[in-house]
Amino acid sequence: PDRYAVIGHPIAHSKSPQIHTWFAEATGQDMVYEAIDGGAEPGGFEQALHAFARHGGRGMNVTLPFKLQALAAADVASDDARAAGAANALRWHEGRLEAQNFDGVGLVRDIEVNLGQPLRGKAVLVLGAGGATRGALLPLARAGVARLAVLNRTASKAVALLDELAANLPPALALHSGGTDLLPGLPAFDVVINATSASLSADAPAVPPQAFAPGGLAYDMVYGKGLTPFLRLAQSAPNVRVADGVGMLVEQAAEAFAWWRGVRPQTDDVLKRLTVPLA
Ligand code: ATR
Repeated sequence: PDRYAVIGHPIAHSKSPQIHTWFAEATGQDMVYEAIDGGAEPGGFEQALHAFARHGGRGMNVTLPFKLQALAAADVASDDARAAGAANALRWHEGRLEAQNFDGVGLVRDIEVNLGQPLRGKAVLVLGAGGATRGALLPLARAGVARLAVLNRTASKAVALLDELAANLPPALALHSGGTDLLPGLPAFDVVINATSASLSADAPAVPPQAFAPGGLAYDMVYGKGLTPFLRLAQSAPNVRVADGVGMLVEQAAEAFAWWRGVRPQTDDVLKRLTVPLA
């Protein structure tokens, strides 16, 4: 069987081995998928990467804290990986190490296909200005979003991020960046995405309920945390649907699987198995 793995530190909690093993079974692919702890020592990631390649490794998923190093280690990288400044998938192909970042396409696919919320022509707010936001912007723009705001607790970080990436975004896209304190003055958004790490500390970015358009979607990129404070806040607005990031996790995995194997797995079964009711 061909060898694949996810590398991170820590790695025990990763759902990727389970997801890819299910995909391999469902598509009849002869492969094994393991979890590798890259350790905390400097150089540990690169050593593990090269050892895996020497032992026949074909591709890897990369998670915290190695996504930046994965991009640096690659010979070639996709536009999304370069814009994100980080890679979450690698493959050895024709003697070169190639890097991709499928988090953003996974997010878009989850919103549009699984959650049934088309993005074309819509107003989208992304909260946060870290790596998660960086990875989402190009795919959101490609989906045809009409108005895109990146707002952050620290306004200057959101402004710097959009200044850096604006040249890669379509000129017709209306962009706003700044602090979340601008929100009371902006029209409501059809989709509001929490790309901050606030949910990890049971906190929420400062978003007034008026920021959520009725009939819209509130999306938290974290998963397995139930109704986060951000999603609870969204529920206080009328007629707003809420979702966590489990579908993004499954869809980015499906993208990587298709890139490695040339076969796109169905995601609905796997998504059902991993989904925990939010309420
Ligand atoms: P990542 O790479 O996971 O996105 P990061 O680069 O550390 O992580 O960025 C974390 C983001 O979450 C930042 O935008 C941060 O806001 P600041 O730039 O103001 O620090 C945001 N964030 C983290 N905790 C938050 C909280 N409790 N409330 C609001 N925003 C928060």
